[in-house]
Amino acid sequence: MRVVIGIGGGIAAYKAAMLLRLFGKAGHEVIAVPTEAALKFVGQPTLEALSGNPVSVDVFERVPEVNHVRQAEEADAVIVAPATADLMARLAAGRANDLLTATVLTTHAPVILAPAMHTQMWEHPATQANVATLKSFGYRVIEPAVGRLTGPDSGVGRLPEPEDIYAQALMLLGWNQDAVGEGQPTGGSDLPLAGQRLLITAGGTREALDPVRFLGNRSSGKQGIALATAASELGAKVHLIAAHVEVEIPGHLDRVTRVSSALQLREAVFAHLADTDVLMMTAAVADFRPADYVGTKIKKTDDPAQDPVIQLVRNPDVLKEAVIYRQSNPQQSPHTIVGFAAETGDSTTSPLEYGRAKLARKGCDYLAVNTVSETQGFGAEDNAITLLSGKGGHEVSLQGSKLDVSRAMLRHIAQEFNNHSPSSPDGPREVQ
Ligand code: CTP
Repeated sequence: MRVVIGIGGGIAAYKAAMLLRLFGKAGHEVIAVPTEAALKFVGQPTLEALSGNPVSVDVFERVPEVNHVRQAEEADAVIVAPATADLMARLAAGRANDLLTATVLTTHAPVILAPAMHTQMWEHPATQANVATLKSFGYRVIEPAVGRLTGPDSGVGRLPEPEDIYAQALMLLGWNQDAVGEGQPTGGSDLPLAGQRLLITAGGTREALDPVRFLGNRSSGKQGIALATAASELGAKVHLIAAHVEVEIPGHLDRVTRVSSALQLREAVFAHLADTDVLMMTAAVADFRPADYVGTKIKKTDDPAQDPVIQLVRNPDVLKEAVIYRQSNPQQSPHTIVGFAAETGDSTTSPLEYGRAKLARKGCDYLAVNTVSETQGFGAEDNAITLLSGKGGHEVSLQGSKLDVSRAMLRHIAQEFNNHSPSSPDGPREVQ
C-alpha cells in the first residue's frame, strides 16, 4: 500500500519519523509530507532517509509533476500525525496553502488524523468545532492520549505512541499487519483470533478506606490495553474490564466495563465467564482490602495515640477462582486462562522460579512473567515477558513494545489452540 504520512509542526513530529519506519518496515511505500513548521522539529534528510522518497513541502516544488494531485491520487491512505490545531483549522476550512493541505483536499483515500497539542488548545471550542467538521468529511480521528505534554505539565493532547497510531490506523483502514504491497486490504485473511471472545482485565484495583482514600498500586494498565488492542487487531471480540488505568482506552473495543475494587472486578469477570473463550487476567488485583470501610472521611484528632491502624483482609484470588470454577463447569468457562505476574526475584530465587511456582499454584494455562525493574514493568513502554505454559508447552521469551509483545503472545497462544503456524516476521524477538 502507498501511505502518505502528513506531519504537522508540533514537538511530537519526531514520532512521525517512527511511524514512517513502522509502515516502511511492514513493506508499505511511504511518502512523508511535512508542513514547513514540521521541518523545524524533524529534518528533511531524516524523513527522506526513513521513507526512501524525496520530501517536498509546498505545491510550487516539482510543479510539472503536479505533485499534490499525484500524491493524493496514488495514496491508499493519508495519515496526519501530529495534526496540530492550526493544521486542523486549515483542513477544516478547506485551505490548500501547502503540499499537505493540498494533498488532503485532493485525495479520495481514507484520511486519518492523530491530533496533538496542549490541553487548552485541544479543549478550545474552535478546535473541537474543527474536529467535528473534519469528522463530518469522513476523516477518522485517533483520540489524543493523556500524559506528559511539551512542558512540565500533563493532560489530554499527547500524541499516542507510534506503535499505537500504527495499530489504530491499520484497524481503521481495515488492513491487517501483513497487508502490504499492491492490491486491496487483505481484511480477514490473517486473523488467528477470529471468532474468539476475549475477556481482558487491565489496570490496578483500588480498595477504598473512606470516601476519599484508597489503597492502590502502580499498575498503569498499559499492558492490558495493549493486549486488548492487539486482540482486536487479530480478529477477536474484546471485552475489556478496566480497573484504574492511566492510558486512554481505545474506542474500538467491543465492550468496556469499568470497575474499581477487586470485588467489583471479580463480579464482572464471573458475570462473563460463560461467554468467554479466553480470559486474560492482566489486572493488578489487590490481594488485600481494608477490613472496614468508613463511610465518612477519617479525621485526625489532636491525640496521636488515636491514629488509625488499618487492618486488612484478603481479597479473593479471581484467577484461581476462575480456574477452579472451570473444573466443575467446563462448558461455561474459557478454554484458555492466562495469568500475569510481575516478579522482581530476590537473592535466592529468580523471577522465573517465582513464576513457575505461581503457575503451579494458580493452575492457569499460561502465566506471562514480567520482570520488574526500575525501567521495566509498571508504566514502562517496553516489556520483556516470558510466557510459561501450564500445558507442558515450551517457555517463550518476548521482548519489545507492549503492543508488539501482546501481538506475539496472542499469536503464540492462538497457534496453540488453532494448531496452525503463526509468527509475524516483524514481531518482537522470540527466544526459546
Ligand atoms: N490475581 C487475581 N486475584 C488476586 C490477585 C491476583 O486474580 N487477588 C491474578 C492477577 O490478575 C494475575 C495473577 O493473579 O493474573 C498473578 O498476580 P500476582 O499479584 O502476581 O499473584 P499473587 O498470588 O498475589 O502473588 P504475590 O504473592 O507474588 O503477589
